[in-house]
Amino acid sequence: PVPRVTVIGSLNVDLAVTMQRLPAPGQTVLANTLAVSPGGKGANQALAAALSGAETALIGAVGRDQHASVALELLRGAGVDLTGVATVDGPTGTALIQIDADGENSIAVVPGANALVGVERVRGLGRLGGVVVLQGEIPPEALDTAAAAVRATEHDGGAPARLVLNLAPVVRVAESTLLTADPLVVNEQEARALVGRGGERASTPEGAARALVGLGVRSAVITLGAAGCLVAEPGSPGSSDEPAELAVRCERIDAVPATPVDSTGAGDAFVGALAARLAAGDSLRHAAAAGNEFAARSVTRAGAQASYQPERRAR
Ligand code: RIB
Ligand code: NA
Repeated sequence: PVPRVTVIGSLNVDLAVTMQRLPAPGQTVLANTLAVSPGGKGANQALAAALSGAETALIGAVGRDQHASVALELLRGAGVDLTGVATVDGPTGTALIQIDADGENSIAVVPGANALVGVERVRGLGRLGGVVVLQGEIPPEALDTAAAAVRATEHDGGAPARLVLNLAPVVRVAESTLLTADPLVVNEQEARALVGRGGERASTPEGAARALVGLGVRSAVITLGAAGCLVAEPGSPGSSDEPAELAVRCERIDAVPATPVDSTGAGDAFVGALAARLAAGDSLRHAAAAGNEFAARSVTRAGAQASYQPERRAR
């Protein structure tokens, strides 16, 4: 069967400026370039999944403005099913992105139309199938509704859906949503925020990954930027008095070396490629390795979606 990925999430227009160093609070700096390009974590992940070979649908919303066509252009070109993208009153989501000379960024997102991708929209989707991908740029209640719909497929006799939950940014979701994720994908900062009071356990990414799976998350991937990622899955249960975290298998998967120009959307590249490979039946660690590869390529070029297009290869 064709690998199928459904992304429920945000579409933005990215207004990106490059500069030597990000301004400190109260400081003004002169920037070098301004680029207007398609972004949004949901849209980025959908494009990455489609370019990785999955039949991909995106559920979301854009505004009734000129930015909408920018947000949709590359998705359309890659054949992403956009019938689930509504056009609503108000502005298309907008991200203000500052990028420094090392390719590091800081981002502020104005949700705009993404704020209207709520519980009703998700309920209206009916049965979910394949790999379902969520992030934190739509209302958290919609994430909970989608996770519940994924769980429902585990009992309705059909092929169960699988949830890839990229909790970026970290928003407050129901515990059952976290426990449906397979995997939960977060970066180090996000992992720390989630494990929180675990204090010292969360001080290393491996500790955080183990803690998350120990809590009952089905599997977890912690992205480490240039250091690759950590994949954590429940191991075979040891003795019953062994703490749950010890029965967790945790493996580091190295990144593909790359010289970063712009890391915007690298995490989304990772998630989209990973989801496509899971939909195709790969193991989590193989899917994560494919995610690393797609992400590494993306950091060598400017923009989020603009940096995902494959290099033309002679055949
Ligand atoms: O993850 C990168 C994305 O975050 C950007 O494309 C921007 O739109 C923000 O949503
Ligand atoms: Na990039």
